[in-house]
Amino acid sequence: VIDISKLYAQTGMFTYDPGFTSTAATESKITYIDGDKGILLYRGYPIDQLAEHGDFLETCYLLLYGELPTAAQKADFDYRVTRHTMVHDQMNRFFTGFRRDAHPMAIMVASVGALSAFYHDSTDISDPHQRMIASMRMIAKMPTLAAMAYKYSIGQPFVYPQNELDYTSNFLRMCFAVPAEEYKVNPVLSRALDRIFILHADHEQNASTSTVRLAGSSGANPFACIAAGIACLWGPAHGGANEAALKMLEEIGTPDRIPEYIAKAKDKNDPFRLMGFGHRVYKNYDPRARIMQKTTHEVLNELGIKDDPLLDVAVELEQIALKDEYFIEKKLYPNIDFYSGITLKAMGFPTSMFTVLFALARTVGWIAQWSEMIEDPSQRIGRPRQLYTGETERDYVTVAQRG
Ligand code: ACO
Repeated sequence: VIDISKLYAQTGMFTYDPGFTSTAATESKITYIDGDKGILLYRGYPIDQLAEHGDFLETCYLLLYGELPTAAQKADFDYRVTRHTMVHDQMNRFFTGFRRDAHPMAIMVASVGALSAFYHDSTDISDPHQRMIASMRMIAKMPTLAAMAYKYSIGQPFVYPQNELDYTSNFLRMCFAVPAEEYKVNPVLSRALDRIFILHADHEQNASTSTVRLAGSSGANPFACIAAGIACLWGPAHGGANEAALKMLEEIGTPDRIPEYIAKAKDKNDPFRLMGFGHRVYKNYDPRARIMQKTTHEVLNELGIKDDPLLDVAVELEQIALKDEYFIEKKLYPNIDFYSGITLKAMGFPTSMFTVLFALARTVGWIAQWSEMIEDPSQRIGRPRQLYTGETERDYVTVAQRG
């Protein structure tokens, strides 16, 4: 590893690295990925162990504080998050300004950004206490805002949080309960969704996290930074991939059409890519994809879905792609998004909510990375360089002389 900033100070030399494939922009103690071996660790703990034994709020604590909580710390943390689940009453009116058919991600970008207008105290980033309150607020309010975005899109009244429920059950209830009708959270689905949240909680310096850090490097308030991260996550090459992967599986429809789509993905004259395949860092199986695949089967079993045509297509597509020369040579394996869409759809979420759920879970990663950056005394404003390829200097010509 070469410290280019020192080299730059001495010689004026800088690197050209579009897509930042080989440039580290920060040091971090939060998440470790070994893409060749397919390893993902949060604060040193393997993702499969956290997903198997832990819960999402415990993972939040781990990412924020660096250690797993004791029982007392966990109880205190859960209580503090729970106390912040309500949103300001005027947010309800803020929501009603949107068209009903607005994409829920558009509502999330706007409503999370708008939190800075409701919680002025938490915009003081110089105060560590306020920074922690902002973190709590964000983790706690994301499920409420996400559920409101969903309810608004289907024309149902908002369901208020019920704080004796655990984090994920509370979210499911806010999404699927209907006033005046009894609603009981299915514990198997709640556990599965909680695990999906753990899998998505952080992934070091991906595009949206880097966006959050870049926005935060200017001193912008945390709500604005997270809104920037949500906007970045929306793209189909990033968090939008689970929505795109499900649409692709629906479009393929039946296993016999898979070869046609494999051929399209390999054709360099066709922009089509197999959604849910490939990853910038994992050049081996995405460890999250394995857990997600298992979770998909658990959810479908619980819901009594024996033959899901989308799952049949997914399993077959994976088998064919894993044996295909092109995918082997380019090290393209299923990523987490390949199976998550099937699981979320089975749970009752529409495709437009998939990336919202990703944003909900990733909020803790964004905020942990943002806090780490703010607390780093060596942190400077992020300011990438460019290779200028435009015109050389030339003289201004008046309109009359321009011919
Ligand atoms: N289908 C077909 N070919 C692919 C795919 C794919 N899904 N992904 C990459 N390739 C090919 C490219 O065409 C390229 O081929 P070439 O060397 O002949 O030009 C080669 O593999 C390398 O691809 P890049 O785009 O350079 O790889 P990069 O690291 O920049 O992109 C990305 C990674 C964006 C994830 C890419 O694999 C992709 O578009 N996948 C589909 C979208 C997706 O699933 N995104 C989710 C990512 S995970 C997440 O955000 C949680």
